[in-house]
Amino acid sequence: MTSSIGTGRDAAPASPASRGPAAAATGAAAIEIGELRFAYPDGTEALRGLGLRIEPGEKVALLGPNGAGKSTLMLHLVGILRGRGDIRVLGLPLTDSTVKAVRAQVGLLFSNPDDQLFSPTVLEDVAYGPLYMGLPPDEVLARARRALADVGMEAYEARAPHHLSLGQKRRVAIATVLSMGAPILALDEPSASLDPAARRELIQLLARLDRTMLISTHDLALARDLLPRTVIMDEGRVVADGPSATLLEDGPLLARHGLEALEPRSPQARASH
Ligand SMILES: Nc1ncnc2c1ncn2[C@@H]1O[C@H](COP(=O)(O)OP(=O)(O)OP(=O)(O)O)[C@@H](O)[C@H]1O
Ligand SMILES: [Mg+2]
Repeated sequence: MTSSIGTGRDAAPASPASRGPAAAATGAAAIEIGELRFAYPDGTEALRGLGLRIEPGEKVALLGPNGAGKSTLMLHLVGILRGRGDIRVLGLPLTDSTVKAVRAQVGLLFSNPDDQLFSPTVLEDVAYGPLYMGLPPDEVLARARRALADVGMEAYEARAPHHLSLGQKRRVAIATVLSMGAPILALDEPSASLDPAARRELIQLLARLDRTMLISTHDLALARDLLPRTVIMDEGRVVADGPSATLLEDGPLLARHGLEALEPRSPQARASH
């Protein structure tokens, strides 16, 4: 197990009581970030004064070119990386003393599934979160199997995660996040390396889930079809934020940030959507 995984998967809450302070902060944003700055030890400034507010229930696309800082931001949401600036999750300021409670609220999908999977079998990996939350064994198993079924990997529960294909690993990693049941999902490139059918099923699954979502992706069609709001990052800052329907059609804006507008949908495709 790598250290980042250790911290990431500690995410599981100690007890339902740990949800108390956050849940009590009614009217709070799901995620609120102010002037966040972070440099890696080699001096690379990955976040340069980033601000972002996401309301409970919002589904938000996080777009931007390679190196924009998307994954760095995601790792800050659960305190794996700690920069300067303010991060609040459901009203709870992220500090050393609240990091566990915050991790109970945010299910993070790492961009690399190898960072998420470390158990001898797929089922153990997906059961890890609910087990750590102290749920009864029946509930742990039910949650793990349901999450595996949600990503179409129920036939693989006894397999070793490190022997799966990349797309299969991604699906299992998504299941490890789903099984936790956190109200906020921070998913770093969830559709990368999925085959078209698995990608479509993932979009349908995420569309059904009533949770707050921040999804980093290069899949602009996923953003258009699933996520009403788009945030574009570049060079460690938010450079655009608005309705996906508007931003994803703004060719010049997208081109300035290494992105390409989608082809307009055919009338038939629009009708069947
Ligand atoms: N461990 C690291 N050490 C030093 N610099 C890093 C490290 N990880 C990322 N960076 C740098 O930080 C910046 C932001 O990287 P990050 O991975 O957050 O980008 P990203 O938007 O997720 O890109 P991508 O679309 O390729 O996933 C880049 O300049 C990158 O080279
Ligand atoms: Mg990334």
